[in-house]
Amino acid sequence: MPLLIRPETPADFAVIRTLTADAFRSAPHAAPPVDGTTDPGEAVLVEWLREDPGYLPELALVAEEDGAMVGHIMTTRGTLDGGGARPVPALGLGPLSVLPSAQRRGIGAALLAATVDAAVLLGEPLIALLGDPGYYGRHGWVAASRHGVGSPDPAWGDYFQVRLLPAYDGERGTFRYAEPFSRFE
Ligand SMILES: CC(C)(COP(=O)(O)OP(=O)(O)OC[C@H]1O[C@@H](n2cnc3c(N)ncnc32)[C@H](O)[C@@H]1OP(=O)(O)O)[C@@H](O)C(=O)NCCC(=O)NCCS
Repeated sequence: MPLLIRPETPADFAVIRTLTADAFRSAPHAAPPVDGTTDPGEAVLVEWLREDPGYLPELALVAEEDGAMVGHIMTTRGTLDGGGARPVPALGLGPLSVLPSAQRRGIGAALLAATVDAAVLLGEPLIALLGDPGYYGRHGWVAASRHGVGSPDPAWGDYFQVRLLPAYDGERGTFRYAEPFSRFE
């Protein structure tokens, strides 16, 4: 079945909510529910991010197989604060969700690759994320500390990672996600 990766549209939002909840319900480090439903916090984070100035519609992508949604990835505007007059723009990736029944078929990898391609075309320097190095290390992410990019929470250690892109020019500093991420602290 050919996989189609395309930007999300409002007609997808309800399905994305269900898909994100289904993916994170079985994930070991899912965020707790935040809105009175039993859905993991990531399902609500996606909705909060859409309302935030950091939302980048061209980096909110769905994966479809035969017209059925099987995956979703969202990357939003963050900043690197290196102590200069102005923080430098950068990208923060997450959440990434693949329908449990469709996992381990390369859909997560395809969504990551599509995000990297889009970010390269946008001239972005780097993409940061919090995730398992065992998974993201296969896709070019490395511990952010290796490149002088500080984690929003030092306790995250090497789980806070970056993927450097061609426009990268030594940017460093402490990374800050779009505001809705801080509602989980
Ligand atoms: C993580 C996730 C997006 C991967 O999607 P996917 O489509 O299954 O990924 P791929 O098919 O590209 O890669 C699957 C491979 O990654 C491995 N993998 C998945 N999660 C992993 C992890 N946390 N650590 C190490 N390896 C992992 C699988 O074992 C599989 O390896 P194999 O093919 O050698 O058996 C999916 O498992 C998911 O939605 N999980 C729940 C939500 C989540 O944890 N999202 C990421 C949070 S940062």
